[in-house]
Amino acid sequence: MTKPVNGFSRLTKNEKIEWLAEHYLKSDQTAVSVLKQYWNEDDKLQKLHDEFIENTVTNFYLPLGLAPNFLINGKYFTLPMAIEESSVVAAASKAAKFWSERGGFKARVINNKKIGQVHFLFRGDHEKLRKLFNEIEPKLYKAVEPITRNMVKRGGGILDIDLIDKTADLENYYQLFVNFDTRDSMGANFINSCLEKFAEVLQEEAKKQKNFTPEEKDLQIIMSILSNFVPECRVRAEVSCPVDELCEDASISGKEFAEKFVQAVKIAEIEPYRAVTHNKGVMNGIDAVVLATGNDFRAVEAGVHAYASRNGNYTSLTHANIEDGVFKFWMEIPLALGTVGGLTSLHPLVKLALDILQRPSGKELMEIVAVAGLAQNFAALRSLITTGIQQGHMKMHLMNILNQHQATEKEKAEMIEFFTHHTITHSSVIEQLEKMRS
Ligand code: MEV
Repeated sequence: MTKPVNGFSRLTKNEKIEWLAEHYLKSDQTAVSVLKQYWNEDDKLQKLHDEFIENTVTNFYLPLGLAPNFLINGKYFTLPMAIEESSVVAAASKAAKFWSERGGFKARVINNKKIGQVHFLFRGDHEKLRKLFNEIEPKLYKAVEPITRNMVKRGGGILDIDLIDKTADLENYYQLFVNFDTRDSMGANFINSCLEKFAEVLQEEAKKQKNFTPEEKDLQIIMSILSNFVPECRVRAEVSCPVDELCEDASISGKEFAEKFVQAVKIAEIEPYRAVTHNKGVMNGIDAVVLATGNDFRAVEAGVHAYASRNGNYTSLTHANIEDGVFKFWMEIPLALGTVGGLTSLHPLVKLALDILQRPSGKELMEIVAVAGLAQNFAALRSLITTGIQQGHMKMHLMNILNQHQATEKEKAEMIEFFTHHTITHSSVIEQLEKMRS
């Protein structure tokens, strides 16, 4: 049994690796060299990555792919996508090309309000608390001026502060509910700093109230933190075209395709088991661009799925209909993203990804990311209701199987040629590879 380790963070990187090898990898030097193989030769660049987190021992690569031909609001974009799943970038590119020939994607930000809360307990007269809040509201704004000054200069800041009585749901529980405009930044640090200051002022002011009982003076702050549920920080993306223009080959008519597509979306709207997978496909596109642009994909995931169940049932993020012979496919989702702050000016590849996107504002990035999600969902549904998903997926996965079996470049070329005319399954690939090698 490995014993707990003390002072691990103070060990050097090499010492951490030695400790790991000794305690968990049977001192296997091959494992050690795998870790070291991913170190960057450029010490400065490596140090930058080491310092992003604690206890870094190596880098963890993800491929960065490009999905070109995204026509969004009349402008062409090439999307940088960081993702490990074969076929996602190919599917995005295919959907982008398809819609670029049909007017492209339209996207617009509905609002970009962010939310934060101070959660606290107040044991006493609700009216006295309300009066205190009304009195100190200007003080709350004043107290955060040093924090908000720059944001206000950029046109953002605190939009409003509300006192919310939650005592019907939880004894003595209240909130300061705050709306923020964080402009082009995701704003997590800004929001949390403001909230912590509000909490401090609120607590101090309660203590000072002469007409408060000792319990009322003892207002208890539980926590101050932004919310990743941002239903009002929302963006809409859509595509539409006449039904007749939807079919690319003779295997299915535009009308049949559109009807089957709408049906597939309706199933995801009412059936949670399907909705989760359907939305996972949306997130394939969203996460890949969110990650490439240095944004917090966990926050986006949490917020998007909460939004998908906002009415009490988990449902599809996308919607589709046919009206007067026109097929329309759209999505509205919350996305709290930033193009300044955080990793955006630190990580060289993030900086590059933002350059590739022509240095978008926070709102423009929301539009681009929403489009990536809609395109990915379109590509997935298009495969699902026509050829099935495995055809395209296995084509991309073929390379993974070949790499797993150390196929040479010559073998790869021959196998790709062979499987353009044969069905790809894991066993058929192995069988063919063995046949070729014998
Ligand atoms: C796979 O990563 C995503 C899909 O399952 C999405 C979907 O089923 O709509 C193909």
